[in-house]
Amino acid sequence: MTRRRIVAGNWKMYKTVRDSIEYVESFVPAIDQRTCDVYLAVPYTAIQGASEACRGSGICVGAQNMNDCQEGAFTGEIAGQMLKDVGAEFVILGHSERRLFFGESSAFVNRKVRRALEEKIEAVLCVGETLEQREAGLVAETLKQQLSESLEGLSAEELQTMVLAYEPVWAVGTGKTATPEIAQETHQMLRNFIAEQWGAETAEKLPILYGGSVKPGNASVLMGQADIDGVLVGGASLSVETFVHIVLAEPEDVLASAEHD
Ligand code: PGA
Repeated sequence: MTRRRIVAGNWKMYKTVRDSIEYVESFVPAIDQRTCDVYLAVPYTAIQGASEACRGSGICVGAQNMNDCQEGAFTGEIAGQMLKDVGAEFVILGHSERRLFFGESSAFVNRKVRRALEEKIEAVLCVGETLEQREAGLVAETLKQQLSESLEGLSAEELQTMVLAYEPVWAVGTGKTATPEIAQETHQMLRNFIAEQWGAETAEKLPILYGGSVKPGNASVLMGQADIDGVLVGGASLSVETFVHIVLAEPEDVLASAEHD
């Protein structure tokens, strides 16, 4: 079966409302010929402007985080229903910057995932190991733990409405990308783990994106791997020109073609 291919941009804490609208106005016509789904995770303040500017383009605008409660006395937090109210269609949850800089545990991320399911806002769940964990041979253990804790209690049907992103912490914002071999091997391991816990059908349907220093020069090869269903792009999504290159990049399996040479 062919899974949906997604190219997602994560602007992090960059761009004003005006910047966002200007970006979208030049981005939309430039990606007319795309063959993938396009997601843009923008700052909260830019969601409304960006989603209005994207109207009719098929681009999904979303948020980078949300609270786990429906509403309440949580100063400075934002609820899923508020995100939907301004046009967000998806939300990134458990990004490594949230886990590392804001102390978010997988148990907390799990409550957010459940809230997103309740609010019917598509959850893009991120997992990834640190360099120390990779060097200590703890990749499988770390990722399985993050996954089982973040997805605890979810049914196969619920999981099939989500997107997973593998973002090795050592590759996020560092300029170091996982090689296509390492990324493919890890994605395959994640998919096998999903199959063991939620069944083969769910594992086959779930898009798994790779994130961490994706650039125009490595996007095609990464997306050419069997278990990589798209990319989650931070820094390189901030410039329209660079992100257009990534959105228009076609998957290319150079490893397989090299073997056949
Ligand atoms: P990067 O960020 O592309 O700048 O490494 C990826 C991400 O954090 O989603």
